[in-house]
Amino acid sequence: MKIPALDLKRQIAPIRGELDLAIKDVIDQTNFVLGETVERFEGHLAEYCGVKHAIGVSNGTDALSLSLLALGIKAGDGVICPAFTYYATAGAVAGIGARPVFADIDKHTYNISIESIEKNLFKKNKLKIKAVIPVHLYGQCADMDEILKLARKYKLKVIEDTAQAFGAEYKGKKAGTLGDCGAVSFFPAKNLGAFGDAGAILTNNQSLNERLKILRNQGNKNKYFHLVLGRNNRLDSLQAAVLDVKLKYLDAWNKKRQEVAGYYDAKLAGLALKTPFVPRYTTHIYQQYVLRLVGSNKGLLEYLRGKEIDSRVFYPLPLHLQKCFKYLGYKKGDFPEAEKAASQVLTLPIYPELTQEEKDYIVQCVKEYLHD
Ligand SMILES: Cc1ncc(COP(=O)(O)O)c(C=O)c1O
Repeated sequence: MKIPALDLKRQIAPIRGELDLAIKDVIDQTNFVLGETVERFEGHLAEYCGVKHAIGVSNGTDALSLSLLALGIKAGDGVICPAFTYYATAGAVAGIGARPVFADIDKHTYNISIESIEKNLFKKNKLKIKAVIPVHLYGQCADMDEILKLARKYKLKVIEDTAQAFGAEYKGKKAGTLGDCGAVSFFPAKNLGAFGDAGAILTNNQSLNERLKILRNQGNKNKYFHLVLGRNNRLDSLQAAVLDVKLKYLDAWNKKRQEVAGYYDAKLAGLALKTPFVPRYTTHIYQQYVLRLVGSNKGLLEYLRGKEIDSRVFYPLPLHLQKCFKYLGYKKGDFPEAEKAASQVLTLPIYPELTQEEKDYIVQCVKEYLHD
């Protein structure tokens, strides 16, 4: 049985008629960038998240960069990011000329370690650390209360990287709405995915909202009068139309992902591996279902691939050891938990449409490998 990591055809088929109509409507209107369709989607996003403003942008990476710029982060400023995340978290920081300052992760949740942030702030030296980007990795929230406490103490801006956790909740509030702003990705493989690149920024701050809208659109407020050095990071209407249709189904899809995760948790309990740990303060929307082996992930990864189960490793090399960040001067051993996680974690396919037969086959193959 061949089981892909994700099968969007199964997601799209039952809502194809609705999507076709929404796309046709954009073509009929010929208003392809920003405009009414984008505004309507932004309104629905804000309502869904219980936040004052949602600003549609070109992708999740740009959502991070624009957030940094709008919050006044400048070239040479330090921005704390976890060492174990997707490249874009730190790439966005470096992209505006600021300096990523890595922190280790908590070994249970894989999210940024509060102690490690504090250690960095304590070391502070010449670098001006101005912001922190907690990443809600795999679909569950980082410990935002503790992060916000540190942020208040050290006067740091907080940008939540919500690329993987849109729809998850921290103590009843939506991910991305607790810090100064939240950066969301609607990359097609996300739980809420567009038909191309797309993203959004969430914020309760009115002046930040205004700045972000100007920055995403070439620094324009009124056409051809440029107030600041902006960028072309606008959201297009086709993506907004698709996302607006899909948003209605997101909670139901996330619930099904949680059911699949619950099934894996129960069936794999007691084996020589760790299933995901979800602290009480957060829900998990399982953008990824991540297992942790006692030793290396390589054996099980190869075994599952051999059985045509598309298991993946997010992420095989922590950011402080990536070639592109060599200039930052980190070395092996600097963030032991991130390094250990990179060698021990792997995913099982998770999506709402997985069949019972597929789930059983996946569980059976994991058990076979562990000789259970
Ligand atoms: C943690 C994290 N941050 C940022 C991004 C960037 O989002 P995008 O691909 O929409 O630019 C991603 C995308 O995968 C991500 O997983």
